[in-house]
Amino acid sequence: MVDIRNIVILTGAGISAESGIGTFRDAGGLWEQHRVEDVATPEAFARNPDLVLRFYDMRRENIQSAQPNAAHWSLAHLDATWPGELTIITQNVDDLHERAGARRLIHMHGEHLSAWCMACDARNEWRSTLLDRPPCPDCGQPALRPDIVWFGEMPYRMDEIEAALRCCDLFVSIGTSGAVYPAAGYVQTARYYGARTLELNLEPSQGSVFFHESRMGKAGDLVPQWVEEILA
Ligand code: OAD
Repeated sequence: MVDIRNIVILTGAGISAESGIGTFRDAGGLWEQHRVEDVATPEAFARNPDLVLRFYDMRRENIQSAQPNAAHWSLAHLDATWPGELTIITQNVDDLHERAGARRLIHMHGEHLSAWCMACDARNEWRSTLLDRPPCPDCGQPALRPDIVWFGEMPYRMDEIEAALRCCDLFVSIGTSGAVYPAAGYVQTARYYGARTLELNLEPSQGSVFFHESRMGKAGDLVPQWVEEILA
């Protein structure tokens, strides 16, 4: 095996599925029950803020009762012990990676447990509801929105992600369908800069052909096995 020092891991909804948080595009997934255009765009929020806030209030409540699973725990263990560079980029807006102890983490699509003030730009940890238009803790304006990257908005920390992809030796994608860019293109970026690429997913993702290796199964089984392998 080539010498591996720098690792980038991309995670998606599939890593939290065994924690009871539904995915977006599997049968019965969230986007079968709600239209993206109704709840996950800035236009939807402008048109019907109550609908959007209620949708995210419910999801914020749900994730707080979910628990990290074996995949989150083993990535946190890898984060704590890996001597080289390691970046976990998650598309997930739950907090299960950090609750398991992961530290080198980028939430590129935002976080459920954060509220963003449209009046003063402050971000504050948020665990309760937004539908009742609570005041911003910083400026007092009732101008809080979910700190979630909606379709049509720019994902967070793109510069850091690009830099990590440029110098990684191994890129691992876990539990993502490869349907949403820019994350779906990271495998090709990492490969372009010379990384080995590995996919761990329940089924082949849309970008499966771009990976050197694909392993199919549940994240709760595959991720601990892979972490054990890489640390051996
Ligand atoms: P998807 O719902 O599109 O894909 C989830 C993937 O996880 C699928 O390929 C499943 O086969 C796989 N999967 C399901 N259960 C699994 C398990 N137990 N173990 C391993 N894999 C499993 O979710 P994402 O790819 O994360 O964006 O979606 C990307 C983005 O689209 C989300 O961040 C969200 C969504 O719209 C925003 O809201 C901005």
